[in-house]
Amino acid sequence: MQLIHTIDDLRQWRKTVGRVAFVPTMGNLHEGHLALVQAAKQAADKVVVSIFVNRLQFGQGEDFDQYPRTLQEDASKLSHAGVAVLFAPDERELYPHVSQDYNVMPPHLQNELCGRFRPGHFRGVATVVTKLFNIVAPDVACFGKKDYQQLTIIRGMVADLNANIEILPVDTGRAPDGMALSSRNAYLTAAQRAQGPQLYAALSQVAKGIVAGNGDYAELERAAIDALQRQGWVVDYIEVRHADTLAVAHVAIATWWYWVQHVWAIPD
Ligand code: PAJ
Repeated sequence: MQLIHTIDDLRQWRKTVGRVAFVPTMGNLHEGHLALVQAAKQAADKVVVSIFVNRLQFGQGEDFDQYPRTLQEDASKLSHAGVAVLFAPDERELYPHVSQDYNVMPPHLQNELCGRFRPGHFRGVATVVTKLFNIVAPDVACFGKKDYQQLTIIRGMVADLNANIEILPVDTGRAPDGMALSSRNAYLTAAQRAQGPQLYAALSQVAKGIVAGNGDYAELERAAIDALQRQGWVVDYIEVRHADTLAVAHVAIATWWYWVQHVWAIPD
């Protein structure tokens, strides 16, 4: 595996190879990231992984300084996984003017769901991913479903801006108790970590309700929030959304309309 730190060197290497699959990360790699690498290997002969802790997507008071930086361990994991290139630029390489004047501004979705609690986060993500896409010029790029809003915004960006890159979504890697793997799990106390699976259980209940035909999403959301609050959680949000667009889901109305049309037999 080659470790490349500069944009020029990466571009030189890129000219020498054919199809490339790309996995952008912020490092401190775990099995969830490595599942993306495996998916990337299926999609192309050469895999590039980037590690860059992107200041632009961290808000005031977030964990930019504490974010775990473990380049040596990460490099050894990626080398064993059969990655061709680890691209690890420093901040001056990606943000030479310190400020980034031109940004990629996602639509209103950036201010919904997680975005409501992290102003500017998805602008920072869309901007750095665009920069990395322009540097690596991949044919395929892998993103985890764990960060579903990020995946949706990147998919929308690639489609609307006609980037010639296939976005490959990868299932969420979980610990045996159901907790999603995340570099930030390291911040949890043992007691908090033990409570983690309660979130997965609450979300699974909502999914089960929908599969069973319950179209009252507001009630499903409320039940999940109540269950978590009873266990001591402070809940930011639980919302049922459309899987393709993350638009507010309205099956309850569709069900009602079906009922009006078919049970009352109202013509179209
Ligand atoms: P990071 O949090 O390091 O995640 C890198 C990629 O790994 C993302 O696509 C994320 O969804 C995926 N991932 C993380 N944990 C996962 C898990 N348990 N199962 C499946 N996939 C998982 O996401 C970022 O970095 C950044 O925002 C980035 C896209 C690199 C832009 O800076």
